[in-house]
Amino acid sequence: EKGTYPYYMLKEIDEQPLVIRRLIEKYRNEQGELAIDEDIVQAINEADRLYIVACGTSYHAGLVGKQLIENWAKIPVEVHIASEFSYNMPLLSEKPLFIYISQSGETADSRAVLVRTKELGCKSLTITNVPGSTLSREADYTLLLHAGPEIAVASTKAYTAQIAVLAMLAAVAAKAKGIALDVDVTKELGIVANAMETLCDAKHEMENIAREYLATTRNCFFIGRAVDYYVVLEGALKLKEISYIQAEGFAGGELKHGTIALIEKGTPVIALATQEHVNLSIRGNVKEVVARGANPCIISMKGLDMEDDRFVIPAVHPMLTPLASVVPLQLIAYYAALHRGCDVDKPRNLAKSVTVE
Ligand code: F6R
Repeated sequence: EKGTYPYYMLKEIDEQPLVIRRLIEKYRNEQGELAIDEDIVQAINEADRLYIVACGTSYHAGLVGKQLIENWAKIPVEVHIASEFSYNMPLLSEKPLFIYISQSGETADSRAVLVRTKELGCKSLTITNVPGSTLSREADYTLLLHAGPEIAVASTKAYTAQIAVLAMLAAVAAKAKGIALDVDVTKELGIVANAMETLCDAKHEMENIAREYLATTRNCFFIGRAVDYYVVLEGALKLKEISYIQAEGFAGGELKHGTIALIEKGTPVIALATQEHVNLSIRGNVKEVVARGANPCIISMKGLDMEDDRFVIPAVHPMLTPLASVVPLQLIAYYAALHRGCDVDKPRNLAKSVTVE
């Protein structure tokens, strides 16, 4: 039930702090330590390479997951779009483990890959919001997102739940390998949940940004570097699917290799700046587009913020910033769609789960 909310999407955005807190509880043992089914952890640590397979928003969560698993658990990870994997299969390592990320657990493109990798005898783990879903039943192992039903076609709380589960998996796998992490993931996720709450309370600011930058524009660019790049891909997808504004996410350094030709006077460019090691370089990219007339909107993180930033998100652990930085992008997409008179929950041409290949 959406209660007093005009749209499920807004309700589901608001539920994100609660979902993160619920996940912290669900993936904790009696001693209060982070815990994941030992068979899953063993399967991960026996693999020489992980292959994450997913579509759309779940694919974007997989990109963030790669960063978390490679950094913390030191296991190489490849992330693949399911429909591409099916028809253009990469060379597999000797001991691969497949991780299927799917909110619905019913996506036909992902299932086609699962069927194929099972034929090859590969082990599989599904990360899904729907217990008993096809991908969950057919994989060897399942981790649940515990996000509650996601009704809006545009995925929000499932994306953040996917990243949180991947972060916990990365931390547990690291520990099982004897890698000493200097991060208490449970505590950091608690900080993330609080930050998300602060962000959800700042809706009016995101509404203003949507009104100022996106009310009449034909297109919009999103840029980011490092993990921010993965988040801007998601921000652009959210905006295009519900507001029908042509939007693309780019790696900041890649713009000058072609795309900058599209920048005109007033073109909105939304830039994320949550990573210290690329803070100056992404700001350099913003200057490049401003010099061509772009209308920049920098969303940075506390501690890295500079004058003229349009919005500053609360500080969270640098590896977990996507969980916070995506929230303003979800809200900006929501308000842009709302202002443009779109049906936020049921965008044209789209279904909640794509059950054809
Ligand atoms: C975007 C969106 C889609 C899905 C994609 C995969 O908001 O919802 O891109 O993420 O169709 O769906 P699942 O995760 O159910 O496999």
